Amino acid sequence: MGARHFLDLGDAGGDAIAAMIGDAIDRKAARKGWPKGRPDADAPLAGRVLVMVFEKNSTRTRVSFDVAIRQLGGTPLVLDSATSQLGRGETVADTARVLGRMADAIMVRTDDHAKAEEMARHAGVPVINGLTDRSHPCQIVADLLTMIEHGKPLPGLQLAWLGDCNNVMNSLVEAAGLMKFAMRIGTPPGYVPDPLYLDAARAAGSAITVTHDAAQAAAGADVVVTDTWISMGQDHAAQKLAELAPYQVNEALMARAKPDAKFLHCLPAHVGEEVSGGVFEGPQSVVFDEAENRIHAQKSVLLWCFGLL
Ligand code: CP
Ligand code: NVA
Repeated sequence: MGARHFLDLGDAGGDAIAAMIGDAIDRKAARKGWPKGRPDADAPLAGRVLVMVFEKNSTRTRVSFDVAIRQLGGTPLVLDSATSQLGRGETVADTARVLGRMADAIMVRTDDHAKAEEMARHAGVPVINGLTDRSHPCQIVADLLTMIEHGKPLPGLQLAWLGDCNNVMNSLVEAAGLMKFAMRIGTPPGYVPDPLYLDAARAAGSAITVTHDAAQAAAGADVVVTDTWISMGQDHAAQKLAELAPYQVNEALMARAKPDAKFLHCLPAHVGEEVSGGVFEGPQSVVFDEAENRIHAQKSVLLWCFGLL
């Protein structure tokens, strides 16, 4: 069998994602109160090296994978395009072939999903998508874990997404199809979910509706999710900000959701744009649990890639 890559949630499938979440819950509980650098008792990835390649900025993905591989007993190593030969034009294929000889797994954050696919074709070791222009599956494993921890089981869940149709939303749509929950997307006219993910989720039986009415999207939701209006690599266009303004998650919008609804955001947030300060700092917001869960979720992703889940 070839290396197990995690470029999208569908590479693992619904059963494996459920197993990842279960393992994350168990490992998180088993090390409660421990120093964050202490390896888990079983150190299942002892001796393994994870190399992380960043073509874009990161705080959570970089630190969570770094801490995750250490907690699993392995060793992290970080490369960025500015200081590696990638930044001087060495091909992705050659870079992948070299890194695959020196490391046991590769995590890549890139501006072009095709580059992550190219890396996976040539590395010979597992390649993990740490965010591309198209998707952000590692984030969504953490989000699903956070929803479950906060009393929102996935079957039957009604999730509202407000704002831009972007990489994070694509992976949430994919998750809806794999984990069987319903989703209402509130987005401006002219903003269209990527059909690659939308069609697959609908074909899998997930009820996903797209509306231009923000209140309708949020109505009766168990979980309300948004993300920055301007993703990395996009122009900070005034027109886009104006178009998205009606889709801000604020107190009035949260009032349309269920009274015990939770608010999620992958971060970094732009308070006052996609979310009001009141919601971001309010009692329904679980964004910092969500951020912490990146560590626990990324450990599960690594274990699945190594065939240990
Ligand atoms: N949510 C997320 O991926 O954050 P970073 O860009 O800081 O990694
Ligand atoms: N959609 C955002 C997510 C950042 C974690 C971006 O791509 O910049």
